[in-house]
Amino acid sequence: MPLIAAHNIHKTYRAGEIEINALSNIHFSIETASLVSFVGPSGSGKTTLLNIMGCLDMPTEGYIEIAGVKTTELNWKERAAFRGNTIGFIFQDFNLMTVLTVYENIEYPLIMVQNIPPDERKSRIMKLLKEVGMEDQKNKFPDQISG
Ligand SMILES: Nc1ncnc2c1ncn2[C@@H]1O[C@H](COP(=O)(O)OP(=O)(O)O)[C@@H](O)[C@H]1O
Ligand SMILES: [Mg+2]
Repeated sequence: MPLIAAHNIHKTYRAGEIEINALSNIHFSIETASLVSFVGPSGSGKTTLLNIMGCLDMPTEGYIEIAGVKTTELNWKERAAFRGNTIGFIFQDFNLMTVLTVYENIEYPLIMVQNIPPDERKSRIMKLLKEVGMEDQKNKFPDQISG
């Protein structure tokens, strides 16, 4: 079973009378533990596709399957839970919370989405910080550290 499969994805944006066709007839599958890039000129639909794959937006037609779950058939609440528990994003502009420290930025989804108890939160956060050599930066705010 592929980790991610896209079946016949179409996306049309509607702005009043105007329709913009961003994606047509997209099919692919991605195996576990692979590293994949979507490459194309500006406006070719990369962000649209990633938003749909990441459960942030819905296709007009077709479906996405992640680890056997048809994410496009979940309701918005289920999709939000699936996204929070299963998918990791690194956005182009980070979307870090400027008023929270590095530590608190990592902690936030563990509280809000995953409801992890405090002791386990702390050990998971410290393990992650250690992995990327950022234990010393944990009390800094996003604008005090390098990109
Ligand atoms: N929210 C939106 N409303 C209307 N059109 C959009 C919207 N987002 C993207 N588009 C259009 O869809 C097409 C694909 O855009 P996008 O997915 O952002 O491409 P890329 O990320 O490859 O630059 C473009 O023509 C863009 O103008
Ligand atoms: Mg883009």
